Amino acid sequence: MASNKDDSHPITLASGAPVTIGWCLREGTARLNAAGIKGARLDARLLLAAAIGKDTSYLFGYPEVEPSRENWDSFQEMVSRRIMHEPVSRIVGHREFWSLDFKISPETLDPRPDSETLVSAVLDQISDATEALRILDLGTGSGCLLLALLSELPNTTGMGVDISEAAIKIAGMNASSLGLDQRAIFQTGNWCSGLLSGWDVIISNPPYIGKNEITELEPEVLNYDPPAALFAEEEGMKDYRDLIPQAASILKSGGLLVIEAGRGQAGQINQVMIEAGLRCELAVKDLGGIERACVAYKGI
Ligand SMILES: C[S@@+](CC[C@H](N)C(=O)[O-])C[C@H]1O[C@@H](n2cnc3c(N)ncnc32)[C@H](O)[C@@H]1O
Repeated sequence: MASNKDDSHPITLASGAPVTIGWCLREGTARLNAAGIKGARLDARLLLAAAIGKDTSYLFGYPEVEPSRENWDSFQEMVSRRIMHEPVSRIVGHREFWSLDFKISPETLDPRPDSETLVSAVLDQISDATEALRILDLGTGSGCLLLALLSELPNTTGMGVDISEAAIKIAGMNASSLGLDQRAIFQTGNWCSGLLSGWDVIISNPPYIGKNEITELEPEVLNYDPPAALFAEEEGMKDYRDLIPQAASILKSGGLLVIEAGRGQAGQINQVMIEAGLRCELAVKDLGGIERACVAYKGI
């Protein structure tokens, strides 16, 4: 049963009435709305739940509970950070992806819902989910793509590679917390350099934003995602041009390559895949109708 009061540091309104979590939610929402933050109520709810160390359903169930001074201060600070356009996921340090909880850090990309298109595109190509496949994830970041796939494919193992050592550490932590560390290896590396061949499936969501697109980015992205995870030369195409031929050379015959595409890039990616000797199968659209996952096979 929830205690409805923390007497150690009571906080009261000028009227003498106690501050409750229901009041905090309304006040936080009002501050975010006044700063023009879209989705203010949802954000306030997520931040308040994190500040008091409970899940969001607790806020609905116990609006009369009085937060401690520490929780109140923590919530105020979180709302101030959100007003500066820091994403909620960065403030609370984790993000839900494929219904799994992923720790993130300043060195990892904040996983995007659109990237779930890549996960489902891979799963759609696998006829037998019990097969023991080997998956390579290039530019793994938080490990979200590889770990989401391993969570669906019980006999599959995988390796995630990233140029960022800090990202690799976070991916390893995520594998452990999701109970997938017996089937996943993470290591630093420059795309496929030094890797052995024979992979059944290779996936990648590389940096693909051209420097010419910087002005179109939201502050949540520009100021908080690591630049090395976002930007690529040659109008966003350079990393595709580097990694696709490398991936094609270490994919096993009949193997599957699935690459995330930025808006309007699928046609050019397919061209790079064809030049690397791959057979392009399709480009899967995300919920916004953008061709998001380019699917190709080696040989046959
Ligand atoms: C767009 S993020 C994708 C992260 C994660 N896979 C996801 O979908 O959320 C691209 C990742 O590629 C990594 N990266 C950039 N250049 C690389 C390279 N040459 N070799 C390996 N990884 C690289 C970045 O550090 C970053 O983690």
